[in-house]
Amino acid sequence: MHKNKSYNILDAKLDAEYTALKKSIKNRDSYTHVRGESLYVDDVNIRQGTFHAVVFDSPKAHGKIKHIDYSKAEALEGVERILTYKDIPGKNQIGGIIPDEPLFAENEVHFCGMPIALIIAETEFIAREARRLITIDIEDLPVIITAKDAKEKGSFINEPRTFNLGDSEKAFENCEYIFEGETFSNGQEHLYIEAQGAYAEPLENGNIKITSSTQGPTAVQKTTALVLGIAMHKIEVDVTRLGGGFGGKEDQATPWAVMAALATYHLNQSVKLVLNRHDDLRMTGKRHPYESSYKIGLSKDLKILAYQVEFLQNSGAAADLSPAIAERTLFHATNSYYVPNVTTKVLSCKTNLPPNTAFRGFGGPQGMFVIESAIARAADSIGVSARTIQEANLLDENDTFSYGQVAKQVEAKNSWNSAKSLFEIESLDQEVEDFNKNNSVFKKGMAFMPICFGISFTNTPMNHARALVHIYLDGSVGISTAAVEMGQGVNTKIIQIAAQVFSIPLESIKIESTNTTRVANTSPSAASSTADLNGKATLKACNILLERLKKVASKYHKVNPDQVSLKDGFVYVDHEKSQVEWQHLISMAMIERVALTENAHYATPEIHFDKSKEKGHPFAYHVYGTSIITTTVDCMRGTYEFDSAKIVHDYGKSMSKGIDLGQVEGALIQGIGWMTMEEISYNEDGKLLSNALSTYKIPDLFSVPKHVETVPLETDGHVLAILKSKAVGEPPLMYGIGAYFAIQNAIKAFNPNYNMKFHAPMTPEKVLMGLYEKKPD
Ligand code: MTE
Ligand code: HPA
Ligand code: MOS
Repeated sequence: MHKNKSYNILDAKLDAEYTALKKSIKNRDSYTHVRGESLYVDDVNIRQGTFHAVVFDSPKAHGKIKHIDYSKAEALEGVERILTYKDIPGKNQIGGIIPDEPLFAENEVHFCGMPIALIIAETEFIAREARRLITIDIEDLPVIITAKDAKEKGSFINEPRTFNLGDSEKAFENCEYIFEGETFSNGQEHLYIEAQGAYAEPLENGNIKITSSTQGPTAVQKTTALVLGIAMHKIEVDVTRLGGGFGGKEDQATPWAVMAALATYHLNQSVKLVLNRHDDLRMTGKRHPYESSYKIGLSKDLKILAYQVEFLQNSGAAADLSPAIAERTLFHATNSYYVPNVTTKVLSCKTNLPPNTAFRGFGGPQGMFVIESAIARAADSIGVSARTIQEANLLDENDTFSYGQVAKQVEAKNSWNSAKSLFEIESLDQEVEDFNKNNSVFKKGMAFMPICFGISFTNTPMNHARALVHIYLDGSVGISTAAVEMGQGVNTKIIQIAAQVFSIPLESIKIESTNTTRVANTSPSAASSTADLNGKATLKACNILLERLKKVASKYHKVNPDQVSLKDGFVYVDHEKSQVEWQHLISMAMIERVALTENAHYATPEIHFDKSKEKGHPFAYHVYGTSIITTTVDCMRGTYEFDSAKIVHDYGKSMSKGIDLGQVEGALIQGIGWMTMEEISYNEDGKLLSNALSTYKIPDLFSVPKHVETVPLETDGHVLAILKSKAVGEPPLMYGIGAYFAIQNAIKAFNPNYNMKFHAPMTPEKVLMGLYEKKPD
């Protein structure tokens, strides 16, 4: 059905061979991780004389700064300097999409935790002591906490966006059933194990090297240059790996790196700034809370004919990535369903919370929660199961998304039907029914969650990458790309690609740190596209080198280059093994003065999007899948456990089964956490209440479903996916949405008066209220 396109000859050539790689492979980092030897920013060997910095931040969510007294702090022994906006030689501006965010507050503060000054001292301890000695006088201004309040007050980040397909207004006239409602999904703390941080060192001539825990080294480089008022080439950013990012370090790793560099600029000394957990929780943004209202219309045979939704995104006090995240909410507003008449609108609401930011799924999960809620509401009122409506509306080949892209290689029904048959849905249903019949205090609930997630940066110009490949004299290989390893296993995948092309052992290949002087002008590692973009660039570079090496071998063997191949570390001629080993071939290439370095560029073909029409083809492809989650609710206590999560996932042709499975399982649990227990809470003054792990509950071993079963869907993959192995980073997070509805179904089994609510997370408190409430008259 799907043909390889001409631009993809490299893939096509590999297609026949890559089966050797489609086995389970260990993450390259697992050895050093387990031994505690992996290096993070906090482990950098610091230079003698390095200073340590701590951020002084706003204690108020909104106000005018009347006076700050730094004198006591400055007088403390060991304090070197306190820097404020007045010390910024360039622009006091870190906004990536919209220039609306100062690095340091000037005359006003806009959220609790907003950086005001940087205290630089001989030790971190002294800097913290000094922070306590600073007094600040702030005149209060009105505080906006919720998106709804912001909307009422006309407080927005930018203009609203609207996607439209068909005529939803008119389509409601032909609907048998129409339902309206409101939903809320809360934010989510990234809780990367490694907190935000950076280390800056002075080099000669005013150059600065920054070691940063960032997903976007170029963003750090660009913003540092802007703030310091110097050229980008004076700033080198280096990243070895992150102890998790989850989107929280796509944009929000930048300020700390810039601050460290600013201090280095002034003091000509190395400066280390690593946030402790409390500071990180308070100062950084999270997943965006969304308040949304929908209207859904269905025909008699349960086809969704019309869907309207307005999303209120709680953006926080500055734009950060909110506009792009809002856009992705619209792209995923209909999940994996075909709806012929759709009107979606998103408003990025400016509030006095820390600027909210990218988080796995990038606004997609928030969009999908609303249509799942609308379906559940409709099902409850009509008196059918949500599953019936979900199944009746699954996307088909050549259906059009509201943004104009025509769905191809659709696996919505395939994954759904596979889940039903593989997991023997009839017996699952029977189990739940029997259990609920025989138990009065415990009730089970089950829910299906289909997913459809678009792969590519929604901002088309960002979809490119480069790879720099060196083959060293001894035959070992070093690769630099823009890919940032954050636990997702991208380095291992890139090693596999090179090993495949050169047919040499994985151990012969090293991934270098991600560094802006080796690979420049890069997009962040995000949008689940890191392996596709950087992997394709690597594939290209390796193939060019391979062709060069084949020429060298063909000259030696006096044959044509196309008679030569490389296999298992040897040169083959006409598929016969020769005496020439890989290392020998590299020596020959050196003697022949052949370049053993290649730098290749890859830009995703085909994709485009016209914002003036809100139509186009923004995604290289979509990832599909279906999860079935079953829960048991303790109807005395309101607590719950997850019996199982059964998933059919569309990996395409997975090139690293172990890594990809890890991504699915991790994302599933992260999604369940978001939907069920992780409750971010700010008080009305804008202070973060859930400011420690004692007040912010994330999934632990007991929250994980007792059985997690993931079955790969056998699909063709996609030519735009690296080696047809589809992107896997974000999509499975949305399987967790099923947990919300599974719990709700269990509550319904206990309490026939339960009035469905769509207010995530579904914490045990809310479950308990639901179990014993009476339907309003
Ligand atoms: N997995 C781990 N272990 N750690 C992470 O920080 N980030 C997620 C996902 N999986 C993340 C992760 C997010 S938000 C994205 S966008 C992708 O990985 C980024 O990597 P990829 O593009 O290589 O999938
Ligand atoms: N996903 C993740 N990060 C991004 C995107 C996206 O679509 N666009 C800009 N940054
Ligand atoms: Mo992921 S939210 O695109 O970093």
